[in-house]
Amino acid sequence: MPTANTHAFDVLIIGSGAAGLTLALSLPASLRIALISKSELTEGNTLYAQGGVAAVLDETDTIASHIQDTLIAGGGLCDADAVRHIVEHGRAAIDWLIDAGVPFTREAQDQSHYHLTREGGHSHRRVIHSADATGQAIELTLSDRVRELPNVTLFENHIAVDLVIGHKLGLRGEAGRRCYGAYILDRKGQKVALFRARYSVLATGGASKVYLYTSNPDLATGDGIAMGWRAGCRVANMEFNQFHPTCLYHPKAKSFLVTEALRGEGAYLRLPDGSRFMPRFHEMAELAPRDVVARAIDHEMKRLGTDCVYLDISHKEAGFIREHFPTVYQRCLEFGFDITAEPIPVVPAAHYTCGGLVTDMHGRTDLLGLYAIGETAYTGLHGANRMASNSLLECLVTAQGAAEDITADPLAHEPEGLVVPLWDESRVTDSDEEVVVSHNWEELRRFMWDYVGIVRTNKRLERAKHRVDLLTREIHEYYGNFRVTNDLLELRNLVQVADLIIRSAMARKESRGLHYTLDYPEQVEGEAHATLLTPPPPR
Ligand code: FAD
Ligand code: SIN
Repeated sequence: MPTANTHAFDVLIIGSGAAGLTLALSLPASLRIALISKSELTEGNTLYAQGGVAAVLDETDTIASHIQDTLIAGGGLCDADAVRHIVEHGRAAIDWLIDAGVPFTREAQDQSHYHLTREGGHSHRRVIHSADATGQAIELTLSDRVRELPNVTLFENHIAVDLVIGHKLGLRGEAGRRCYGAYILDRKGQKVALFRARYSVLATGGASKVYLYTSNPDLATGDGIAMGWRAGCRVANMEFNQFHPTCLYHPKAKSFLVTEALRGEGAYLRLPDGSRFMPRFHEMAELAPRDVVARAIDHEMKRLGTDCVYLDISHKEAGFIREHFPTVYQRCLEFGFDITAEPIPVVPAAHYTCGGLVTDMHGRTDLLGLYAIGETAYTGLHGANRMASNSLLECLVTAQGAAEDITADPLAHEPEGLVVPLWDESRVTDSDEEVVVSHNWEELRRFMWDYVGIVRTNKRLERAKHRVDLLTREIHEYYGNFRVTNDLLELRNLVQVADLIIRSAMARKESRGLHYTLDYPEQVEGEAHATLLTPPPPR
């Protein structure tokens, strides 16, 4: 019988971005669903996505070409079956969004067709978009639909703390490898409740907040990856954190993203003297894959000792720019830059977590009853470098895959009479030193930026590992003694994710995709495999 401290549902979805919302909308109405959101329902990376969703929608484009572009951008590390599966489901996913009411931009000349733009690595126009605020259009449309569902209970401003796993309850065999729900903190009431569920789904987004400069909103702290790891799931490819080449450089802009679609529509990258530099680095110039462009910018900034480079679309017609990029135009204007008339200063910033919890195409993790979908998961689609606009596509396709899997056996059994303990706060007190959390948070993000960024070395990684080990011990002790708060939980997860990134980066003795190290500057054939980390076995 549910009480204030316990809830029981068929499906617990942790996260309400593109992945979580798609799943909630794709499950049968007969299932009772809890949808948990750390902040307001719509806040998350999805809300800020600009460029669009990649899919083969034009008759001159082909599935083979989308697959090939993805494999090339992924630097030889994509899982070919995953790429094929996700790309082949592209059109159906877009049709589903259109049916849901997402207002994609249509061709100016022919309103019966959707406008397709281009981004880095794509050899065709295949990115369907809603001007330059595609994520907002998707998030607002899907969240409105979810709010109408009577079988879905929303828990906004709730943060998942940890998963309930059988082996931690003393169960053995299959029951020990099953997930039974999660402990969840109400951020306003400051109480932790037990949410029991037959199926639990981590749709918690990425972890780019582990870096000092990021295009991501504050909640991208890798909670799902850390929770899944602590529960006993493998992670893969955590060394491949993507840096977006062009975020607005302005002290107050908080790394506001300037969409790659600007370059897709003809914008140039320029040095302070006005000259272009990308043709020197790649045959696709400004439309080279993202790892190449971010590294080229980093190289030129260091070579010239400049704080930024410049992105210039002012040679295009002003009406076209304002119509296609209203968000970027407006935001830049607020900071004193008119993109129709002048180049704007840009720098790279941490943007996307290519690695994550290992899953199959149905979002199944290593634990029974536990799924991971969206940016939290590693499906093998992105390899060593995600191609632009493949992420939202992956969210949609794997969420629908998870829905199919759950629907096939909605009443997965629980062991008879299973007793799950309530959250125990009897041995902790309120912290009298919140400054420890804020100080460690700042330190972590700074050393990750300085030592584990676009260019790495063995020495920098060792320095970072030393510091993360110290922080891990300090946070572990703090966590054991004090009542949990939102900031403490996020820091605990960030430190865990940082450790996984550093260990994965140390394991890769070559440069490939987003992982570039001065100690092993070449790609090595024998290293063409994913970096898999396995958590220690349960004690
Ligand atoms: P998110 O949308 O990030 O949602 C995560 C959800 O999890 C949130 O609801 C959050 O509250 C919740 N959550 C997290 N932790 C917890 C917790 N502990 N407890 C409870 N809830 C929790 N990709 C593209 O394909 N095309 C683009 O054009 C594009 N543009 C982008 C632009 C920007 C500025 C950014 C930041 C990303 C962009 N991306 C783009 C990437 C893409 O937006 C994300 O990868 C994708 O939206 C992730 O969706 P998600 O559902 O996995 O996670
Ligand atoms: C962008 O619009 O530049 C972001 C696209 C992406 O991250 O996929």
